[in-house]
Amino acid sequence: MTKHIVTSQVEYDLAYKASIENPEKFWGEFAEQEFTWHKKWDKVLDYDLYTPEIKWFEGAKLNITENCIDRHLATRGEQTAIIFEANDPKEDPLHITYNELAKNVNKTANMLKANGAKKGDRICLYMPMTPELAYAVLACARIGAIHSVVFAGFSAKSLSDRIMDAKCNIVVTADGGYRGNKITPLKGIVDEALMSCDCVEKVIVLNRTNSKIAMEYGRDIWWQDEFAKASDVCPAEVMDAEDILFILYTSGSTGKPKGMVHTCGGYMVYANYSFRNVFQYQEGDIYWCTADIGWITGHSYIVYGPLCAGATTVMFEGVPSYPDMGRFWEIVEKHKVNIFYTAPTAIRSLATCDMNLVTKHDLSSLKTLGTVGEPINLEAWEWYDEHIGKKNCPIVDTWWQTETGGIMISSLAGVTKDIPTYATLPLPGIQPCLMDDNGKEITSAEAEGRLCIKHPWPSMARTIYGNHQRYAETYFSTFPGNYFTGDGARRDTEGNYRITGRVDDIVIVSGHNLGTAEIENAINEHTLVAESAVVGYPHDVKGNSIYAYVTLKDVRSESSEVSIENEIRDLVSRTLGPICKPEKIQFTTGLPKTRSGKIMRRILRKIAEGDTSNLGDISTLLNPECVEEVIQGKV
Ligand code: PRX
Repeated sequence: MTKHIVTSQVEYDLAYKASIENPEKFWGEFAEQEFTWHKKWDKVLDYDLYTPEIKWFEGAKLNITENCIDRHLATRGEQTAIIFEANDPKEDPLHITYNELAKNVNKTANMLKANGAKKGDRICLYMPMTPELAYAVLACARIGAIHSVVFAGFSAKSLSDRIMDAKCNIVVTADGGYRGNKITPLKGIVDEALMSCDCVEKVIVLNRTNSKIAMEYGRDIWWQDEFAKASDVCPAEVMDAEDILFILYTSGSTGKPKGMVHTCGGYMVYANYSFRNVFQYQEGDIYWCTADIGWITGHSYIVYGPLCAGATTVMFEGVPSYPDMGRFWEIVEKHKVNIFYTAPTAIRSLATCDMNLVTKHDLSSLKTLGTVGEPINLEAWEWYDEHIGKKNCPIVDTWWQTETGGIMISSLAGVTKDIPTYATLPLPGIQPCLMDDNGKEITSAEAEGRLCIKHPWPSMARTIYGNHQRYAETYFSTFPGNYFTGDGARRDTEGNYRITGRVDDIVIVSGHNLGTAEIENAINEHTLVAESAVVGYPHDVKGNSIYAYVTLKDVRSESSEVSIENEIRDLVSRTLGPICKPEKIQFTTGLPKTRSGKIMRRILRKIAEGDTSNLGDISTLLNPECVEEVIQGKV
């Protein structure tokens, strides 16, 4: 039988081969050996990538929380499941055991039920990174409600769009969230969001910051009051493998964010499989992923993957810069972290700091490092390797997406080779390919093209909530029969992949996936704006930053442009959240367009990047004369 959790290159080769030759056997065996099911599946995989329709473990019955919690209690009930490190380093960390986690999740589940939550309901979680967020996620899963976690940095408008899209009936939030020396007024943002939502019946509010907030009678209740009343016994709802576990929104290249739908069985199998293989997790390891649970990384690799493996997972409430830029390393030392997983943008900003902030901490507990979210540049990789890993820790550069549910291409720590700036090899079960511009697969070993996946894997998103057509068009229409990732990649002669970045209208800023169309829509809301075009350009720390070209309705004096610029930034910040704010704004009298009126973003992207050497043929444009003006006006 194939060894699924591999510990050598040879075992990886064998597992990969087995997974390609007979995916159903490969995943069926792993699923059977490693998890608690109420009923086994009728069929491991049923799929059609043209429609597209994908079903894994159809007919199987399970509850993911029994796999993440209950089954551990007999053997590791007193082991720490979650270490909570608060924003304020003076606040004592919490060590929550699996026994305590079980009780707290059950209490939270009963609290949700007492407030009307039922199987299949959508529940929005807009919360700080406190253990209660993990309890709420797991409590939804426990009772078969679908969680939709919205990152607590999003604006009221973004929050209300997401609540309405999924028609959530309950919102769980906190009075406020600590972030460094600031408090985000979460409940106030929820109140504003709910002014335009009529689907929400209850708001459960965790008191985290003792902020003064308004509570709406009949709608708003305090977490602490309800939690205290709730029983700590809650049987798990028995779910079908293909029932929805959660919805998580990600930016789209055309306007509205997409609610990616993940289902119970396949997601669980692959979150566990990828966590254990990539990080080579060993019993007793302290594992810390610095992401927020508001992103897929937090779902799969703070909550579900580690807990399903019975690991100890660290949850950090704060930010890397508070109280100083040494905070990450202080936490590594304090909790003797063995596996550390973060984003290139964090590494780049920490690399520019006073080295004393690193060297004064004992980082000798570290044995594996990871990165995720965007390509990591060589300098950042080398700094991470030398100063954090002391040249003694493998670095897993993990490529994946909200849509893929789990890590797709990565080295396996200490098992397969890591290569700076390369995500390297696909995990067993993952069949990447590169496509040329004509939609043909490039079969030569060494190649560069658009990255697709040709065969289903267990944790792939099954649809976009409420819009299967958009799912089909976005991911399966460009290269029919294949899942198109939206990324470009290069492959070397040994089959290692290097991700070169997005090839669509999505820009990754500090690891956050932003849709340029959505930002343009927000800018266009300004009464003086005629039209705008948003592109990304390289930024030393953030990876990319946002550059907005804006044409105004009136030609104004320069001083008023300055104030309009500030207004535009404010508007974007209020509409979408501060992370979407354009760094640079250039006012133009026109934007280069095709004869059919489409803005030529390709040209604008090059100009923003400062590379005007090869703009291609501009003579066929509707208004070629404006290109020179745009170049001259670059900010
Ligand atoms: O462009 C790729 C980039 O992040 C995108 C997915 O973003 P999101 O859905 O927010 O998920 C981020 C966390 C999984 C991808 O399409 N990306 C992610 N990881 C890497 C990466 N680019 C290069 N290298 C990576 N390791």
